[in-house]
This record gives sequence, C-alpha cells and structure tokens, in this order.
Amino acid sequence: MNHITYGMYSRDQSPKMNANLYGVHPFYMCIENDANAHGVLFLNSNAQDVTLHPEPSLTFRTIGGVLDFYVFLGPTPENVIQQYTEAIGRPHLPPYWSLGYQLSRWGYPDIGAVEQVVKRMAQYGIPYDVQYGDIDYMDRKLDFTYDKEKYAGLPEFMQELKKDGLHYVIVLDPFLSKDQARGSYLPYELGEQLGIWVKNSDGVTPAVGQALAPGYSVYPDYFNPKTADWWTQMCVQFHNVLPYDGIWMDMNEPSNFLNGQIPGCAHNNLNNPPYIPRISDSSLFQNTLCPDSKTFLGDLYDTHSLFGWSEAPPTFQAIKEATGKRPFVLSRSTFVGNGKYTAHWLGDNHALWEDMHTSIIGILEFNLFGIPQVGADICGFYYDTTFELCLRWTQLGAFYPLSRNHNAFGQKEQDPGVFGLEFATIARSTLQIRYSLLPYLYTLFFEAHAFGNTVARGLMHEFPADPQTHEIDTAFLWGSAFMIAPVLQEATRSVDVYFPEATWFDYYTGDKVPDSSHRKHVTVNAPLEKIPLFIRGGYILQTQAPAVRTAKSRLNPFGLIIALDEQGQATGSLFWDDGDSADTVENGNYFYARYTYREGHLKTSIVNNNYRGVDSLIFDTVQILGVASRPNAVVMNGKGIRRSDIHYQENGKLVVHLSVPLGEELDLILQ
Ligand code: GLC
Repeated sequence: MNHITYGMYSRDQSPKMNANLYGVHPFYMCIENDANAHGVLFLNSNAQDVTLHPEPSLTFRTIGGVLDFYVFLGPTPENVIQQYTEAIGRPHLPPYWSLGYQLSRWGYPDIGAVEQVVKRMAQYGIPYDVQYGDIDYMDRKLDFTYDKEKYAGLPEFMQELKKDGLHYVIVLDPFLSKDQARGSYLPYELGEQLGIWVKNSDGVTPAVGQALAPGYSVYPDYFNPKTADWWTQMCVQFHNVLPYDGIWMDMNEPSNFLNGQIPGCAHNNLNNPPYIPRISDSSLFQNTLCPDSKTFLGDLYDTHSLFGWSEAPPTFQAIKEATGKRPFVLSRSTFVGNGKYTAHWLGDNHALWEDMHTSIIGILEFNLFGIPQVGADICGFYYDTTFELCLRWTQLGAFYPLSRNHNAFGQKEQDPGVFGLEFATIARSTLQIRYSLLPYLYTLFFEAHAFGNTVARGLMHEFPADPQTHEIDTAFLWGSAFMIAPVLQEATRSVDVYFPEATWFDYYTGDKVPDSSHRKHVTVNAPLEKIPLFIRGGYILQTQAPAVRTAKSRLNPFGLIIALDEQGQATGSLFWDDGDSADTVENGNYFYARYTYREGHLKTSIVNNNYRGVDSLIFDTVQILGVASRPNAVVMNGKGIRRSDIHYQENGKLVVHLSVPLGEELDLILQ
C-alpha cells in the first residue's frame, strides 16, 4: 500500500514485478481489520493505473471509457469471488483430461523428438494426459498448416496418441502472414476477401505488423462477427487435418515485433495521449498495434486490452463444433470474464527459484479473477533449468490447477523423463498424488463453475480473521481442505509452515501435526523426494486410485479421506460426470453427493443422480483421520465389515476396505 502504482494495458511481457503483463483485471479484494472482505471491479478496458496509498486508499486513473464500478460485499473472501463471478461469468468446467499432467515445449526439432518424450514418460510410468504442439508443428509458423517434412505423419501420430489416452493441444497465433504466394495460403486470402482484419486509422486498409509468421502479418478483428465466423470455420476445417483436442491461444495482447504497424504510428491524441498510465516503456504501441487502429467496436485505444478476450468465444465455439466435446482453450491474454471460456498460463517465466515462488502469487490472483484453471510453466521457460529446481518445481506444479511443463526454444530438455531414474521416480509418485486427488480437484472445479468458489486459494480465504494468513504466498490450499507447502529454495530440506487454528494432518502419514490446534509455525521435513502436504480436519476428500492416464484412473476404485476436526466431524462432496461432454451441468447429466460425518456416523445425501456412469464405479476404501480409539466394529449399509478389512493405527488413522457402488448412499457407522 506504500504509494505503489500498477499499470494495466495488455502486453507481451515476461512476468516481472510491477510491470503491466499479458492480461488486465481491474479488480481487487480487500480484507478489512474486522475480517470482513469486499471486492471492487472497475470495468474499464482502457490503459489505466491504480495507486495504493497507506491511509488506506486507492486512486484509479484511466484514459478513456466508462466509469463503471461494481462493489461486492462478501463478507467472506469466498463470498466476494462467488459474487464477482456471478457478475462477470462463472468459470467454465474443464474437461477432466485437462486436469491431468501436461507436457509442452517450444523447439521439439521434429516429430521424432515428441515421440521420444512420449516414450520416456511411458518407460517410467509417469502420469501424463496432454501433449502440446507449439509453433514448431506449423509449416513456417503459419496458422492452419503443419510441417509436412519435420512433422510428417503428425495426423496419424495424433490418432495414435488418442488411442493411448493422450490428448493433443495445438498453438494458434492471432496473426496471418499476408506475404505468401497467391493461392497458397487460403486462410489469409479468405479473410482478406471478407475484410475482417484490424484496420489502420483510415478504417479501410488492414493494419500490417510483423510477428512470428514469415513476412508481414495482419490481425483478425475478433470483435467483428464475420471474423468470429471465419476463425471458427478455419479451426473447424483444420480439425479435419489435425485432430486436435484443444487450442492454445498465444500472442493475443496482441503482440507485434514492431512498435505500431507499418509505417509507424502517427502523432495524435490516441497514440500519444496527454497522460500515459504507468506502463512499461511509457508507450501505448510498444510491441503492439497503434491505438488509433480501428476495430469493429471502435478505436483500438479502447479495445486493445480486450483483444485476447475477444478471441476466446469463437475459439471455444470452434472446438465444440470440431470435436463435439467440452472445449479446452488456453489463453495468454485475458480480461474480466475470460474464465467462462479459457484456462490461463502465466507466460514466459524464467528457470529461477524466485519465479517458482512468484508463480504461487499468480495462481492465487487468477483464482480471484475467476480463471481458476491456471498454472505457470513448470521448470521455467527461459534459461536452462537444473535438476533440483525442476524437481522442486515439478512437485509444486503437480498442484497447480493447470499442471504444465513448458520450455523455450534453445533451452535444454526438461520433461520429467529426461533427468534419469531418481527424478522420474519422484515425479511419478508426486503426480500419482495429484491423480489420486483428481476427483476432489474436479469437484472443486464444479463448485467454481456452479457457485463461483476459487479452486486454489490463499490461506486467508479460510482464515480471514487470522492476520498472519494474509501475507502467506509460500503455501496455498486446494479448496478448504488440502494444503500445499512446497520447498521454494535451493538445497533446502525442510519448510516452515504456518498452521492456522484448525486440526491438520500430515497427508502422508495421517499424523496430527503437533499442536496444530493452536496456531503455530512448524518446521516440517522435506527431503528431496517429498513436498509437504496437509489435510485440514473437518473435511472429506474424494480420491481414486491413480493411473498413467485419466482415461484409466477414471475407471479405478474411489476412496474417501475423512479428516475429523476437534468435534469429530467432517463434510465433503463429490461431483462426477463423463468428464468430456459439453454442458453436462447445464443439462443435469451428473452425479453430485454430499457426505457428512458426525458422532461416528457417515451419511450421504445425493443431490443429483443423473449420470449412470457411476453405477459401474465403486468405493473401495474409507480412511478416517483423527479417530480417538480403535472401534469395536464398523457397519456399512447395515452389514458388519470383516475385521481383516479394518486397520487402525496408533496415530488415529482408521482404514476400512469395502466395496460399495459409487452411486449408492453410504451409511457407515463406527461402533
Ligand atoms: C510465446 C509464448 C510461449 C511460446 C512461444 C512460441 O513466447 O508465450 O509459450 O512457446 O511464444 O510459440
């Protein structure tokens, strides 16, 4: 709050403290001294800045648009986000496979290199669901083409991956080269005929910039419904060539390697307004188009930061049409409301310990912004990573809502299979934890979609009255119940964890964290093979035996982890559907149940029971943490469970093996 000014104007900018980055979200949430939270949205897309003062107070400065403010009264942090997402659009329910582990890199020299990666992952049995194709797959970096030499056989390869349960996501850039031989690049020619590009200030001639594609490029004006139709059609047709499962929308700030389009920006009030908000390079056209360019909705001066947002609906629609399934879209630039359509990654970070730490801040922020499916490039994008950094980052990244390892051109390989057996073994066991908790994570995504909750959240969301939680950016929660406390420093084998007042259990052992019922800093062991993880008493988490693909793990037996609070109580819920049909929630085609445990009695209430896929699935384990003493008997749905299926440990962990259909009401009593 110390007179700091943040500029907002979408920009192709590697994550950097206090710089304006890829997206624009003029929204904040505040917890006041009485622990009540509120949120404020300033719904304005112009270049702007906001200054924080210690009184406390804020000064908004925008250089255009409407002064449209929304206030969300909470009073809890989660209430604020529920209200905010009710106003701007609730996050999209992601396809289940996109919650699996994802691998990407810029600079796979050819298809053979991708095959090698897939092979290494299989050899070590590392859970993995998604492979990306960056611009390398394209013919000379042209959208809607593929390189028939270096990537010969790509369509067939993608089909093979599909059979193996993998999904393939392709990158697309929002610029089309205008300099290809006539008749050789139809996506451009069709767009040119339709006149759908962003225009120069004359409103007639296309704005011409230069980006990754060869020669000079034009930019689709996605605000124009004709552009949206053309883009959708191009994506749908391209699916007949490359059977992709999702689209990665990159460079959509929009990025340009020139400052303004050719021949440069005229000196006028739009390109050089009297006040330029506190943005990098103090220029509105650095590495982008001139603000006096014309879009369908008006001057780019007003719509610049909406460019990525405008690309989202037609891309979402295209995938739906092309695949007939629930879309997965990953976008670099985002604006208020993007979560309805896209996931987000935090952009071109560096393989530095500091960047791994700040990624947690980015993940928590985007959960506030209603884009909960978010992750940073695991192991770092620029610079060569190291064994230890990449290992620790793989452990942390296993708990990003979007878990993707991505790497820049020219850097050495960093997929988890490339560092040898020790690394691969640790990566596998950590990702197996992620995969075993996917039913819990998916339920959180449903609750984000249906009620607007965050998925990854700061400790302050759950303990707003504890001021010590307000500044924590080294640990975070999945939902209310699961704490991730990663190692963020080199050569470190322990972590200082702050446990707000609650009962906390060590995920690995089920041990109560000593004295955690009184708020306390505890130093916990974190040898190289371990990321500290904790479960909060009072909650029930759903698990499923892991597998190398979600397609397989989704068929495995389920479990419940019931972590008891000091009153011996816990609650939780489970959402389940087919995982990849569009609109299952809207159509009611899902199963949703709530579980409550008190006085030794677990009860289920099924809220929605309209997905028959649950009939072939079972629960095979119930774990209860914090049980005071060994029970004499356990009764499930009226029948006693064999003694040999009941295991009690001295630390209060009770494990019960059973076999009950997932879709049935569980009624379990400890006697
Ligand atoms: C941009 C993206 C990066 C991608 C590269 C090449 O820098 O942010 O993720 O790998 O372009 O397409």
